[in-house]
Amino acid sequence: MDLWHIRGGNRLEGACPVQGSKNASLPVLAASILAPQRCRLLHVPRLRDVDAALRILRHLGCEAEQRENEVYIDSTGLSGCSIPHGLMAEMRSSVIFMGALLSRCGEARLSMPGGCRLGRRPIDLHLAALRKMGARIEEEGGELLCRPSKLHGEEIRLSFPSVGATENIMLAACSARGETVIRGAAREPEIVALQGFLRMTGADVSGAGTDTVYIRGFRPTGAAVCRILPDRIVASTFACAAAAAGGDVELRGVEPGQFSTVLHFLNEAGCDIITKTHSVRLRSEGRLRAVGRVVTEPYPGFPTDAQPVLMAALLKAEGTTCIRETIFENRFRQAPELCRLGADIVCEGRTAWIRGVKTLRGAALHATDLRGGAAMIVAGLCAQGETVVFDEGHVKRGYDGFDSALRALGAEIRLE
Ligand code: EPU
Repeated sequence: MDLWHIRGGNRLEGACPVQGSKNASLPVLAASILAPQRCRLLHVPRLRDVDAALRILRHLGCEAEQRENEVYIDSTGLSGCSIPHGLMAEMRSSVIFMGALLSRCGEARLSMPGGCRLGRRPIDLHLAALRKMGARIEEEGGELLCRPSKLHGEEIRLSFPSVGATENIMLAACSARGETVIRGAAREPEIVALQGFLRMTGADVSGAGTDTVYIRGFRPTGAAVCRILPDRIVASTFACAAAAAGGDVELRGVEPGQFSTVLHFLNEAGCDIITKTHSVRLRSEGRLRAVGRVVTEPYPGFPTDAQPVLMAALLKAEGTTCIRETIFENRFRQAPELCRLGADIVCEGRTAWIRGVKTLRGAALHATDLRGGAAMIVAGLCAQGETVVFDEGHVKRGYDGFDSALRALGAEIRLE
């Protein structure tokens, strides 16, 4: 159990280098097995989820090792195509190993993936698309058995721009015969990053970042070096923390355009924001205004992953903010915990109303999920007295050195 002890009230000041993206690293780690090849990945965050992906790679017979922020993978020795339940259950994105294994081995055996409990998280879109491409997938007692199949290119129309389904199809399509076209694809920066890595390893992919992605074949190059893009959700979290606690923080090594919707609302709330090519400076007096209505949407809309931390930032804002969550059915699990600090949040279905209060007082909270846990830490930074967040390791799934980065900005936070 991780215990985050936070004593609120300090302003946050200084430069904050932003880690590499979890959600960009994980598909690239899965893609490293597409062909016998050696990969070197730079700027990879040290996270529980990354570690879980490396253990999956080693289980499959690959060499996979992380030293600080570099990951080395040699997938020439890949010898298996099944992933045991214990490894699959550690995170949601283990499911994209299905597309990668189908591509490399033509078969796979895995179980339903784990991950944060944010409501129902079916993988029907993944399965329908892979089946359309010729995969023979059987579901038996929580197991996914992909029998030996030869994949062929197809036109796939996604009824919702699922990030994971888009990634899975891209991976499977690399070894499919003929062209695959994904219509209604997710447009997230992580999809563009995956396209970049796939091109480097020899795939003919284009269109990522738009709603149509084309995959036309794969001639393995044998090696690739790739730098992971900065984490837009971690950047958003630090921005929300500085906005709420008050301060003057420079986020370094970021792509401001990738979290501009979050910066837009922080600006509306009264923060002074200056963006440069790869940095964002945010100044806040810590007295924010409510921002009216926020609706989470697929990229380029406001990201669901930043919703809990924005909610935390607005707990003391003057007025009422309404947040509508459209991506996950149960993503307000942090709200009852935040109310223990004295916050005034009313949730009804997928809508939450946050009425700003004058003071928050420290309390003991339980981290409900990764971003919800981060939100509690952000709220603790602007609560009087001590907040303790009891966390079964959720926050470390996505934040690398969160406590030390916040301490470097002047926060009083200790991880036990
Ligand atoms: N959905 C379906 N059927 C499917 C796939 C998705 O109904 O076959 C639904 C889901 O149930 C959900 C919605 O579509 O309601 C969005 O799912 P999506 O597939 O887009 O999300 P994901 O691939 O499971 C990734 C991120 C999440 C992030 C979402 C949305 C990774 C590893 N995870 O999940 O990140 O919230 O996209 O942007 O990339 C996080 O980092 O904390 C996190 C949860």
